[in-house]
Amino acid sequence: MSVYLGIDIGTSGTKTLAIDGKGKILASNLQDYPCYAPKPLWSEQDPDDWWQATIKSVRNVLRIGKIKPREVKAIGLSGQMHGSVFLDKNNKVIRKAILWNDQRTIKECGEITSAAGGQNELIKLVANPALTGFTAPKILWLRNNEPRNFDKLRKVLLPKDEIRRRLTGEFATEVSDASGMLLLDVVKRNWSLDLLTKLKLDRDLLGKIYESEDVTGNLTSEAAQLLGLTTDCVVVGGAGDCAAGAIGNGIVNEGILSTSIGTSGVMFVYSDEVKIDPLGRVHTFCHAVRGKWHLMGVTLAAGGSLQWLRNTLNFSSPKKTKDVYDLMTFEAEKTSSGSDGLYFLPYLSGERTPHADPYARGCFVGLTLAHGRGHLVRSVMEGVTYSLRDSLEIFESLNIPVKQIRASGGGSKSQLWRQIQADIFGQKVVTINSEEGPAFGVALLAAVGAGEFKNIQEACKAAIKIVKETKPDSKVKKIYDQGMLIYQDLYRSLKDNFKKMS
Ligand code: XUL
Repeated sequence: MSVYLGIDIGTSGTKTLAIDGKGKILASNLQDYPCYAPKPLWSEQDPDDWWQATIKSVRNVLRIGKIKPREVKAIGLSGQMHGSVFLDKNNKVIRKAILWNDQRTIKECGEITSAAGGQNELIKLVANPALTGFTAPKILWLRNNEPRNFDKLRKVLLPKDEIRRRLTGEFATEVSDASGMLLLDVVKRNWSLDLLTKLKLDRDLLGKIYESEDVTGNLTSEAAQLLGLTTDCVVVGGAGDCAAGAIGNGIVNEGILSTSIGTSGVMFVYSDEVKIDPLGRVHTFCHAVRGKWHLMGVTLAAGGSLQWLRNTLNFSSPKKTKDVYDLMTFEAEKTSSGSDGLYFLPYLSGERTPHADPYARGCFVGLTLAHGRGHLVRSVMEGVTYSLRDSLEIFESLNIPVKQIRASGGGSKSQLWRQIQADIFGQKVVTINSEEGPAFGVALLAAVGAGEFKNIQEACKAAIKIVKETKPDSKVKKIYDQGMLIYQDLYRSLKDNFKKMS
């Protein structure tokens, strides 16, 4: 039997998943680790934690799935995007990695934009504007704020690519994750030497670039021993977690869009051609499908907003008999669509799409004495979904066809939230047979890289089926169409005060 592993270096933990040659899931395991916030709006992790979690989860998957080392032919890597692992000349990690949801680089984003000659010029070079979460501003932050660490710097790797280095000894990345560094010429699928020069950054800081299904190396004997595998096992490029999750959802053809509600919320649409939002509100990145692209909008605190509400209101299950989120949904179901005039802006960590505003803040607007906990829950679900619709409206304005919406992530597990999505998007929302996310997507890429399937479309066709459909209710859609206008207006009217408040 041939087995393929997908390893996803997530923000809350690392998940390893094993599939067979038909894409059937054999076993999976999650190992979690902490996230550090040494200052407000900072977010860091220790790459050693990712590595230990990788070793443990791979070993557990082999044990749970009764998989023999020789059977594992290839590994695909996925991971939280944009994070920076800074390495010195001995490949030692210089400081904790700075993550995608860290907001410390406002000044550096301005520096990059002016070095490029303005936002339009920057978009011409790398298809995207400078956003605080992206990697290039983090490198400049290190240069500006920790010059001694910057002097030691020899390589900058993304989270999953640091794990690749420990697995194979190679400094490499692939096009989908590299797109989020703000240093890739997304049209040409190669580093932008032009921007690197303008930023006075050395090309050698960056790894070699591959397409996502290409083999980037074999396991070293040390890694093979630690993981319980063999050195015949290859590691393919893999993908950033958004592209990997989209592959795992079968977003490999024109007209299909996925909405994924995890900690962050991602609207992801496939595109045969490079299409770029001239205002830079949505990202244009290389897809993990060879020679194709995708556009994506990110709500930074999506499921994260509901998790915050759960923790803040101390929702808990009596005797732990029920899932807490089921209890929250149960209370929300008793309230009506539109939350009786209560609105939630999900900008708890600033925002990415469509506002790219690190100063934006979360708020409930419209509270009355009649509102209870159920309203708070429903309006969080609605506010997050309005925010996702912001991205959908931008895709539509760029003439990107959207014929089918596939929901995934924690947010798709709740019937209520799926219905809210269908009603706010005004389109049918479907879910598929696998809920395994990015790890599944890169396991499929590993199978393609090892020659099990002709291409990723064939792999997705074999492994992915639609299992549920949720249709929009036309009356409720009207309520939400009006709600959307108020939701969009609220940000406009609060924007200036957000900045003053921070
Ligand atoms: C994507 C992004 C997040 C992280 C989370 O641009 O920042 O989705 O990848 O893992």
